This record gives sequence, structure tokens and C-alpha cells, in this order.
Amino acid sequence: MSTLQRIIEVIGRLIVLPLLILLIILVLPLHSYSLTEESGEALFEMNCSGCHVNGGNIIRRSKTLRIKDLKRNELDNPAAIARVARDGVGIMSGYEEVLGKGGDELVANWIWEQAQKAWIQG
Ligand code: HEC
Repeated sequence: MSTLQRIIEVIGRLIVLPLLILLIILVLPLHSYSLTEESGEALFEMNCSGCHVNGGNIIRRSKTLRIKDLKRNELDNPAAIARVARDGVGIMSGYEEVLGKGGDELVANWIWEQAQKAWIQG
């Protein structure tokens, strides 16, 4: 390798590294924002959608995640939904462990958002 090539390589590294760091710093806040919503949805798909397809309830038809049922059962807020996600309710067991730290709130916020949109995507 010639000296010139080596110099170009060193300069290249010197420029690329700070640029990468800058990019990460700039992109990270945006990313973590969209991540909250995405991970709420992902948690739901992984742990809840088996029984609550499209916000319904394949076992107890009167206990869906739709606004009408949530209101009647006094679960019409993210905190109450998060509690159910964590501790369970009636014959539904809690999912505290699989949801992980803060996962109860992420999934509850997402559910509450969907309920307000009548579970119509978009
Ligand atoms: C194995 C099936 C199953 C899974 C998986 C499941 N649920 Fe449920 N869920 C139920 C059943 C059954 C009920 C009704 C329980 C009862 O009242 O006896 C229920 C009720 C609820 C309710 C109360 C709804 C209402 O209108 O009263 C909420 C909120 C809820 N589930 C959230 C979740 C969340 C969040 C997850 C995922 C972390 C989840 N569920 C996963 C079966 C399930």
C-alpha cells in the first residue's frame, strides 16, 4: 500500500467515525419515539392477539378491548388496561413477566389508542 493510500485511509477513518456518531445521535431520538408505538404493537401481537384478535375476545365475548366493553368494565384508561396486562383479570392470567419492565404501559397505551380508533388500522 502506498503512503498516499494510507493517508487517504487514515483521513477517511477520521471523517467517517465522527459522522457515524453524529448520525446516531441525530437518529436515536426519532427512532426511540417510533419504537414506543411499534413495541406496543409488537407486544400485543406476541402476547395478546391470540385471544384478542382485532381487539376482540375469543373466550369472553363481553370482555373485548373495544371502547364499549372497556367503559362498561371501567377499564377505559391506559393505567387500568396496564394493570390487567400485568396482573390479569378473572380467568385471564397476568403477563407481567413476558411484557418486561414498562411493557405493560407500552401495550396498554397502544390498546387504548386502537380502542379510540375502533381498532381500524391507520
Ligand atoms: C389466553 C387468552 C388471553 C390472552 C393471551 C390475553 N387475554 Fe386478555 N382476556 C382474556 C379473557 C378470557 C378475558 C376476560 C377475563 C374475565 O373477565 O374472566 C380477558 C380480558 C382482558 C381485558 C378486560 C377487557 C374488558 O372489556 O373487560 C383486558 C384489558 C385484557 N384482557 C388485556 C389483555 C392484554 C393486554 C393481553 C396481552 C398482554 C391479554 N389480554 C392477553 C384472555 C386473554
